[in-house]
Amino acid sequence: MAIIRLKNLAPRKRFSLMLIIIYIISLPIISTVTYLILKQNAIRDAYNAGKLHLSAMEATKHYVADKLRPILQREMPGRFIVEGMSRSYVAGNIAERVHQELPQYKYKNASLNPRNPKNKADEFEAGIINKFRENKELKEWRGFRSGPDGEYYVIARVGAPFSADCLRCHGDPAVAPEELIKRYGPTGGFNMMAGDIVDAILAYIPIHVPLDSAKRVVAIFIGIYTIFFSVIFLVIDVRFRWFYEKIDSDKKKIEEINTEILNLNQDIESIAAERTMSEMALRVADRVRNPATVIGGLCHRLLEKEKVPEPYRGKLEDILTKSQELEKIVRDFESLMKSKRFMFKRDDLNEIVLATASLMEQEIKDKGIKLSIHLSDTPLLFNANKQLLKVAINHLLRNALESTPSGGKISISTSIKEDNIFLTISDTGIGIPPEDMHRIFEPFFTTKERIGMGLPLVKQIVEDHLGHISVDSIPKMGTTFHLIFPVRWTEQE
Ligand code: HEC
Repeated sequence: MAIIRLKNLAPRKRFSLMLIIIYIISLPIISTVTYLILKQNAIRDAYNAGKLHLSAMEATKHYVADKLRPILQREMPGRFIVEGMSRSYVAGNIAERVHQELPQYKYKNASLNPRNPKNKADEFEAGIINKFRENKELKEWRGFRSGPDGEYYVIARVGAPFSADCLRCHGDPAVAPEELIKRYGPTGGFNMMAGDIVDAILAYIPIHVPLDSAKRVVAIFIGIYTIFFSVIFLVIDVRFRWFYEKIDSDKKKIEEINTEILNLNQDIESIAAERTMSEMALRVADRVRNPATVIGGLCHRLLEKEKVPEPYRGKLEDILTKSQELEKIVRDFESLMKSKRFMFKRDDLNEIVLATASLMEQEIKDKGIKLSIHLSDTPLLFNANKQLLKVAINHLLRNALESTPSGGKISISTSIKEDNIFLTISDTGIGIPPEDMHRIFEPFFTTKERIGMGLPLVKQIVEDHLGHISVDSIPKMGTTFHLIFPVRWTEQE
């Protein structure tokens, strides 16, 4: 259904609809992909920062356990000095100092059974620690956590399992150093077993800032993309409209030319029909006139002889008047026919030339040929059959167009001198071979290119106007047709 309806739409609307659909489909895809890429980058950065933080803390812990604590124990046997002996104490202290400079980061050594209450795992952290406890293979956990001050990226690493060495301070409180019990009491962080895992170290990296900026980037992108699409949409729409208007106007022009040609055809047909009709009628009239004259003459002669008896004389006189009537009818008919023999009327040659040239103007331009028209300043009124002249001029222009290569020129000019009107049509085309020159006006004269019926017709039309046509041509240089029409030929005739 939808497809059928889409097909029925006008092409311009269909195209607009397609653009909108492309926009609607592509926008979420592209913006989501962009956001995901930016988010991925933000996470990667956060992960790298968190990893660095945790590694530093772990290294500190190892330093305390491997270096500091053994020395202190050796130098001060039996003593417990938390500032140098507790790994988590030292690491926590260093983390605090780091966070003075980078307050957005957080570090925590979360424990299910903490000695220091600030290390107590909350629900979220306890969940992670339990994951480590359940799955011994799991050494690191990553995820998001949203807090009151925004979204955090969290990296958690499993704490070190308790060894025999740890149990001195984390096993039975009865054997723990006295100073430790004094400071922390006998409950928190005791009664561990070797191999127990009760803690994790966690780095909290704020990720809402890069995520927000990713969202901002995507929003800006959506804006630019929308503007870009709107501009493309507008440009294409305008282009389309221009294109369709052009097609419409071209179509109108073609239709105009078509009706023009149709009119020409009809005129030619009716002119031909009228001409044959009147010529036939004249011929019949001519045929009738002779017998009528003969009959009249015979009657006349008979009447001059007085011997004709009375009843016949009256009859003969009747025949004589009738034959004279017949002669008069023929004469009247002939003069009537002659007076309206052709459909000529006063017309301006300039207008006829312009109307014909405008029909071919586009075609000439399209072929890359320059068309120059120089018309006389005054109207060139003479007795013309407009349609026939259009046929003739059109044919000469078409000849010029066909024989002139692109880049050439076709010139039309009109002028008047004394009682004659001049029309020349010249081109810079291939010209007419000298051997063909004297025959181009012959009907059915055939050159390599075509059978020539056009030029004889042109000649006929010019001669019907009592005009004269001649041609100059230089091969490869061009051809010029000269047409001369008398201004006052009806009066002379
Ligand atoms: C010399 C005593 C001592 C030894 C040995 C010792 N710890 Fe501790 N441990 C402490 C003290 C004291 C704290 C509390 C420090 C603080 O205030 O943050 C502590 C804290 C911790 C914490 C942080 C959670 C909490 O309970 O507050 C963990 C985890 C921990 N110890 C694990 C270990 C492990 C594992 C070992 C062995 C590798 C070990 N400890 C060895 C004294 C010791």
